[in-house]
Amino acid sequence: MFKRIADLKADDNVGKTVVLKGWIHRLRKQKQKTFIILRDDRGDIIQVVCPSRLCEDLTIESSIEITGPLNRDSRAPEDGYEVKAERIVSFNIAETDYPIGEYQSEETLLDYRHLSLRTRKMINVGRVRNSLLKYSRDWFYAENWMEITPPILVKSAVEGGSTLFKVKYFDDVAFLSQSSQLYLESMIYCLGPVWSITPSFRAEKSRTIRHLAEFTHLEAEAPWITIDDLISIQEKLVFNLVEKIKENNTAELDFLNTTSKIKLERISIPFEKISYDKAIDILRSKDCKIKDGDTNRVIEWGDDLNIESERELTKDRYNPIFVINYPLGIKPFYVKQSDVDSKTGMAVDLLAPEGYGEISGGGIREDNLEKLKNRITESKLEPKDYQWYLDLRKYGSVPHGGFGLGMERVLRWILGFEDIKDVVLFPRTMSRITP
Ligand code: 4AD
Ligand code: MG
Repeated sequence: MFKRIADLKADDNVGKTVVLKGWIHRLRKQKQKTFIILRDDRGDIIQVVCPSRLCEDLTIESSIEITGPLNRDSRAPEDGYEVKAERIVSFNIAETDYPIGEYQSEETLLDYRHLSLRTRKMINVGRVRNSLLKYSRDWFYAENWMEITPPILVKSAVEGGSTLFKVKYFDDVAFLSQSSQLYLESMIYCLGPVWSITPSFRAEKSRTIRHLAEFTHLEAEAPWITIDDLISIQEKLVFNLVEKIKENNTAELDFLNTTSKIKLERISIPFEKISYDKAIDILRSKDCKIKDGDTNRVIEWGDDLNIESERELTKDRYNPIFVINYPLGIKPFYVKQSDVDSKTGMAVDLLAPEGYGEISGGGIREDNLEKLKNRITESKLEPKDYQWYLDLRKYGSVPHGGFGLGMERVLRWILGFEDIKDVVLFPRTMSRITP
């Protein structure tokens, strides 16, 4: 029976003959001896030493099975385990022009992402992604939220018409979902607090370090909920995710960014809440500029927060912050108008510290039928596409709200990466759809 490298090391099989299956990650051929770094299907590596006569035809990324005794040798990389191969069987001898080596441009690595996923960086990213998904699911199950699987082919925009991907749908037109929110809203009447994790699509025309055309969207919605409840749910969820990753992904964090763990240590709840008004005051006191046509001017009340202003608000913090009560005009049609100030909407965004900015957006939903209809028309959306959604307000509407958390945004922040493309396995952007 073959073993995985991690099990082999964990059970300490020193002295025993072991069988391993994997790929040749690195290869150094000398006259008598050949040194192989073998990578198994979980991405773990171990040094294998074998007589060069057994290795003549071996190449980088060839898939092999090796048999031999496990030794400990302090000169072996990682934790000093080494296998002395006595037998090697190959499944496939890889062609000699394997395009991924030690020094490659970021673009080349992206062009060959189907192969560069085998690099140790991407293996570690893949592991943290897996953990983040698992801990999110664990949290929602423990808190008794129901998971649903909403449709991705839809007829109605959620986040504005300008970032919709159109697809041919038989003789009609449909769109790729920007957010599952409207479908989650329909489920609170019968399944209570619900959540989903789906791909969401945005035809973002801008190239930025935090926008993808396709991202992994975790969304939640619950009936009879206040803005304070929403804040506290997100606070608990995000803090729990950070705690779990910190506890269980030490090796990956250390490999990817030696300071990640230290910065996660400093995070504590509650996260600070500031109003949009206060955010604008802070930004104006720092003379924060925004682009207005061809000129730059100081940000003012009514402007949306963008990458630069969010960076300014969060760069000197190590805890995330909530920004609440945005102007209604810069938020989507579904945001509930405030009862105390008609110019503002009951929206809340969560901004990650150290300049990372928005990781989640949500709020209380407009439950007044007439107001909602007006907001749909004002937003230049087609009321007929929202008939079914408006029915939710006609038949037993209740105060409710929810949020959407961008998993890649969370990972980018936790791992301390600059570019969001580095935390996705196959990034989709304005200029990239392959591989
Ligand atoms: O702020 P957004 O657009 O809000 C919504 O979609 C709501 N309907 C969610 C809800 O209330 N159910 O998106 C939510 C989050 C953002 O805060 C961000 O983290 C992420 O989704 N996101 C993106 N991530 C990567 N690339 C993009 N183009 C993203 N657009 C949004
Ligand atoms: Mg948003």
